[in-house]
Amino acid sequence: MALDYTFSIIKPDAFNSGKAGKILAHLEGQGFTLKACRVIHMTKRQAEEFYAVHRGRPFYGELVEFMSSAPCMPFILAKANAVHALRDAIGATDPAEAAAGTVRKLFAESKGKNAIHASDSDENAVRESRFFFTEAEVV
Ligand code: CMP
Repeated sequence: MALDYTFSIIKPDAFNSGKAGKILAHLEGQGFTLKACRVIHMTKRQAEEFYAVHRGRPFYGELVEFMSSAPCMPFILAKANAVHALRDAIGATDPAEAAAGTVRKLFAESKGKNAIHASDSDENAVRESRFFFTEAEVV
């Protein structure tokens, strides 16, 4: 059975331009509920570790610099079939290719500064949630 929660981050571009509340409201309006949330300014080392799966890709350095450049908001959302539901709700990586009504179409600037991260599998949702939250921090 698919996991009923997933992990997400409001990235520095969206967080610092005051869009976190609007994005969360948009997702709550689609039936997601908040299970955990915090604000953190990641160190470069934390960003490197979080995105280790992308190490070696051409955009890795830029991604790590961006994610550690300013505060962001990691959070956990619950919904049936959560990983797929949130990937659908956020849209394509590049906002120019994202479907109408998706978070990236509505709130993102570019492929690099694309407002939001969402886990791409149940396995990664578990791993990424544990990266930022202890069990006691999740309701
Ligand atoms: P996300 O899917 O959250 O996690 C990996 C991130 O790498 C992705 O969002 C983009 O922000 C970034 N990314 C992917 N491809 C590129 C690219 N070609 N150029 C810059 N950043 C990218």
